[in-house]
Amino acid sequence: MTRQALTLSQHLLQMEREHPRAKGEFTDLLSHIALAAKTINREVVRAGLVDILGYTGAENVHGEKVQKLDQFARDAIYRILGQTGQLAVLASEEDEDVIPVPPGQPVGRYVVNFDPLDGSSNINANVNIGTIFSILPRITTEGSGTVRDCLQAGRRQLAAGYVMYGSSTMLVYTTGHGVHGFTFEPSLGEFLLSHPDIRIPARGRIYSVNEGNYAHWTEGVKRYVDWLKMDDRETGRPHSSRYVGSLVADFHRNLLYGGVFLYPADRKSPQGKLRVLYECAPLAMVAEQAGGSASDGVRRILDLEPTSLHEKTPFLVGSPQDVREAELFIQERHQAVTADRRLNHVRVDL
Ligand code: AHG
Ligand code: MN
Ligand code: MN
Repeated sequence: MTRQALTLSQHLLQMEREHPRAKGEFTDLLSHIALAAKTINREVVRAGLVDILGYTGAENVHGEKVQKLDQFARDAIYRILGQTGQLAVLASEEDEDVIPVPPGQPVGRYVVNFDPLDGSSNINANVNIGTIFSILPRITTEGSGTVRDCLQAGRRQLAAGYVMYGSSTMLVYTTGHGVHGFTFEPSLGEFLLSHPDIRIPARGRIYSVNEGNYAHWTEGVKRYVDWLKMDDRETGRPHSSRYVGSLVADFHRNLLYGGVFLYPADRKSPQGKLRVLYECAPLAMVAEQAGGSASDGVRRILDLEPTSLHEKTPFLVGSPQDVREAELFIQERHQAVTADRRLNHVRVDL
């Protein structure tokens, strides 16, 4: 008889027993993130049927049209997490300023920065979209949390993860003790452990980048991507290009198969497009916990000290050897990369 896979709640309790630092409130908070994910998932899978598609007419702080599902996801997360009594403050991609916990709620010890719906442009095409979350300890000591509680380096995160909505909805999280993936079983209404202890391959054969921005890239990024495309079997090239346009989907595929995702700086966006607090830092924690790495081309993402809620950064994330090679090209120190591959007989079979 096949053993019933652990539910997320059971897994969280198991982690709590194994790692006493992860306190009960923490488990409670992550369980409510799962509840928010189920709530959003229900609307995502019905999006084509009910009037939840399309734009609200509003624009967010980035001047991006807010889609109804963005707003629904943001409100669901705020409503569900706000009532846990565990939070001091929240911050979201859709809100210019921090979001205080609902009036009347006790002020808790944690902070959640989140991207309620990542990949919004893909909503109407039924392509995978996601939610990204980051949990930090509050640092202010009294009253409601403030923006200072949200603006912390990614290395201070207590937990991070994402939900990917699609043909099968998954929740992937880390509390600093490995990366664990859960697949939603609608008939049970439960997230079941399907990918325990995810490890990213040291090197992959996939690169994910929007090549439409090629003309705006720095010389180093152009040289790196051109190099990946060269036909040199002995050094495992060319690599394959895969780009969904939903960060969560591109990240998740590379996490399982190996590879590198890049959203580099370019002349149009000198700091890149992706945001530190609720996109890059949480995914960087997941990547590192799975044996991968994440940088801005020079610095480790988790060491960046954000100074504003919606601060952007160039973003490279994925297999450590791929990220390293990309950094060497970006830093104009790539001279030995091909020879090193030849020396190490790097032949990454498909
Ligand atoms: P969001 O929908 O939360 O604004 O995120 C969209 C991001 C990310 O999901 C994706 O990697 C990137 O935008 C795609 O940007 P381009 O369309 O410029 O490639
Ligand atoms: Mn996003
Ligand atoms: Mn978003």
